[in-house]
Amino acid sequence: MRVVTIGTGYVGINTAVALSYVGHSVVGVDVDEAKVALLKSRRAPISETGLDELLAIDDRISFTSDLGSCIGDADVVFIAVGTPSAANGEADISYVLSAADEIGALLTPTHDVTIVVKSTVPVGVNAMIARQIRGAVGARGGDVSHLHFASNPEFLREGCALHDTFYPDRFVIGTEDEKAYTMLCELFEPILMQTFEPPQAVESPEQRTLPQCLHTDQVSAEMVKYASNVFLALKISYANEIAGLCEKIGANMSDVSRGMGMDKRIAPAFLRSGLGWGGSCFPKDSKALLHMAQDYSYPMPIVTAAVEVNSRQKDRLILKLLDHLHVLVGQRIAVLGLSFKPRTDDVRNSPSVDVADILVQRGARVRVHDPKGLENARHIYAENGFEFFDTAEEAVRGVDAIVIATEWDDYKSLDWAEIRRNMAGSLLLDARNLLRGTGVEQLFDYCGL
Ligand code: UGA
Repeated sequence: MRVVTIGTGYVGINTAVALSYVGHSVVGVDVDEAKVALLKSRRAPISETGLDELLAIDDRISFTSDLGSCIGDADVVFIAVGTPSAANGEADISYVLSAADEIGALLTPTHDVTIVVKSTVPVGVNAMIARQIRGAVGARGGDVSHLHFASNPEFLREGCALHDTFYPDRFVIGTEDEKAYTMLCELFEPILMQTFEPPQAVESPEQRTLPQCLHTDQVSAEMVKYASNVFLALKISYANEIAGLCEKIGANMSDVSRGMGMDKRIAPAFLRSGLGWGGSCFPKDSKALLHMAQDYSYPMPIVTAAVEVNSRQKDRLILKLLDHLHVLVGQRIAVLGLSFKPRTDDVRNSPSVDVADILVQRGARVRVHDPKGLENARHIYAENGFEFFDTAEEAVRGVDAIVIATEWDDYKSLDWAEIRRNMAGSLLLDARNLLRGTGVEQLFDYCGL
């Protein structure tokens, strides 16, 4: 099939590359010409396992900034642009609406096409887009019965985005249009039936299983995405709330999480306590869900509490530093890890950066390092008053305290005895509980979170 994906961010580029790999002809479209130029030279704009390798061998995929040059041939058009948080917490759907505007203006009156929203959008936006595009095509005398619409929310995680695209747990199609449903089933058949040859550059599961498929109406599909992300966020906040009590009681939270996770109904994932959740999805989606609920005068106290607990984790960290250091002004503090989670170079909406910012505001001298996200951080946070270091060893030399803010495996293998010798102080605040139980605790004045 001929596919166009609008937006080459995490969702768009991984969808485009995976669909091309399984045999479709794909054009990735983005308004950002610098990104398109990079992609044309077969380099990925984001760090994702396997992406560079698949782009390099792929001759079915191409990139452009001009939607008009490719939409005429498309069987399926994906909208995969960002929906960031607006100032009031609502999801900003302006990029989605302008993509829909462009599609509506460019489609020829007889074009038979399925338009699929992959962006995370508040309930009702799929229907709004369908009305908008049908209205534009209809106004030019087009036959709108050729236009088909579906919601197909994305569940990939940053850092293993291609893995999640090739080997998804589930596949949700929200549409009441039979043709749109059939088109999507056909398009994704190699993935739904797991018939493709596994790409070498992407880790494949030991046992390949078929994803579960769910066919719903559009509004329910939109809601599945929000309900899933926010459930995971509140699972983490619950673990963090329990961890705080464990600390007071003297219980070991790692064992408590492990014990809880042994119950199949609870499951072990997303029970890791620490500095809390960040990134481009959980913070934005929890705010958007609360905003949607507010529109219906429907309070959501559980979600509200999850957001509060998440924010409180940063305060807990600062209080622990104060307990040990007493004053923060002038203290040299190394923050190890700036990405919002390990194995990604994405440093946006990262709890680690929030903590580094608070420390700068409190007068500390903040030295930062990240194994993958340092370059991004140098650009985005150039004005935040951080001192950037290319290695963790340099960042921690001579400091009064170290904060491990992101649980990179790289930090496990540091020579912690040597680091301790080269420090001025002795405090190691392990805000991700990365080194707990490794013996490193004995070398420092150690505390977890
Ligand atoms: C999340 C969802 O997991 C994806 O299914 C979804 O498709 C994606 O959002 C999205 O909406 O696009 P992602 O933002 O890549 O994916 O990150 P996660 O791996 O879910 O981690 C989110 C945050 O939770 C990170 O800051 C991580 O450090 C934190 N976390 C995760 C914990 O603090 N504890 C845990 O046990 C697990």
